[in-house]
Amino acid sequence: MADYWQATVTTPVNIAVIKYWGKRSVALNLPTNASLSVTLHQDQLCTTTTAQCSKEFASDRLWLNGKEEVIKPGGRTDTCIQEMKKLRKAYEDKYEDPHPASEWHVHLCSFNNFPTAAGLASSASGYAALVHCLATVYRLPNTSTELSLIARQGSGSACRSLFGGFVAWDMGVNEDGSDSKARQVASEDHWDDINAVICVVSDEKKGTSSTSGMQRTVETSPLIQERIRLVPARMAEMERAIAAQDFDAFAQLTMKDSNNFHAVCLDTSPPIFYMNDVSRALVALVHEFNRVSILQKRGHRAAYTFDAGPNAVIYCLRRNVKDIVNMVMHYFPQAEPFKDTYKVFYGKDTPGQMPL
Ligand code: ADP
Ligand code: DP6
Ligand code: CO
Repeated sequence: MADYWQATVTTPVNIAVIKYWGKRSVALNLPTNASLSVTLHQDQLCTTTTAQCSKEFASDRLWLNGKEEVIKPGGRTDTCIQEMKKLRKAYEDKYEDPHPASEWHVHLCSFNNFPTAAGLASSASGYAALVHCLATVYRLPNTSTELSLIARQGSGSACRSLFGGFVAWDMGVNEDGSDSKARQVASEDHWDDINAVICVVSDEKKGTSSTSGMQRTVETSPLIQERIRLVPARMAEMERAIAAQDFDAFAQLTMKDSNNFHAVCLDTSPPIFYMNDVSRALVALVHEFNRVSILQKRGHRAAYTFDAGPNAVIYCLRRNVKDIVNMVMHYFPQAEPFKDTYKVFYGKDTPGQMPL
């Protein structure tokens, strides 16, 4: 029998078009509203995690981007590891296939190929990769739905990264969180000409983490009650737009929801400012692009969305990527393209001359 087990997985980021913001249970990471996201392509923004279990190891340990992170007992990482060990034990009991790996400690080594904690959903790909990697190292047959229940406890948005394509996180009604999990709304093949142009405005770590930001919102914002009220209709409309491949409706809803989420952040006390001047310049640019596009009877051709950070993700159809990239490059001449199909821009300084 091997004296260590090892596995490596790569998991992509997902960027929400209907945002999760607010917890009704902090302990179980249960949301105050449902959310829906698009999982990006694996070779765009992703996390690669390796797990090794060995009888030589004295404790569970995690290295993130080459630096060791403390695993707090009872914290989110520890919870995910313990839940996965429980699944491994249950599997052994059921199939009478004992293996000491579930008793051994695990070392996890993880890298994000994009800025961490900067509002590009590193916690989503990070915790999804961690859970998927442990399922792989433990040779577990659990479904993505089952794993999403565990990844959710690491970071809410992580539950959606276990599926490709268009993914909803149903908030659920059960107190124990057993029905608060991810569900694939449509596969990546359903609408495969949707693209994400990623504009990295700043790669710095955000001042207010998503976890503490949304807690403050729940505690202090009256506007979040209105958001909780309006999201169910938006979820239904977004699912319809995706099913019908209606980019015009998809774009309008995506931008509205991003703006509503940032309005709720502003309504928090003290207010949270995730977007900056460059973010706002990108918003104006996309609206101007769409205004011209609508005049040409082509409908909305671009949709920005901002997570808890200043960086923009612009969704568009593949045939429009070139126009959008050229436009951003024109107004942000210092931007640097990154990779071939999907571009990442470092538009760090001045927003350039705006068309408005
Ligand atoms: P983001 O907008 O990048 O998701 P968050 O504030 O939600 O930012 O979460 C960032 C935190 O997620 C990091 O400080 C770290 O604790 C955790 N995280 C990020 N990437 C990983 C990873 N690859 N493995 C484990 N944890 C990660
Ligand atoms: C704005 O999933 O990072 O990106 O559950 O506390 O880890 P925790 O929060 P997290 O929040 C994501 C917020 C968001 C919107 C979204 O991804 O739905
Ligand atoms: Co996050």
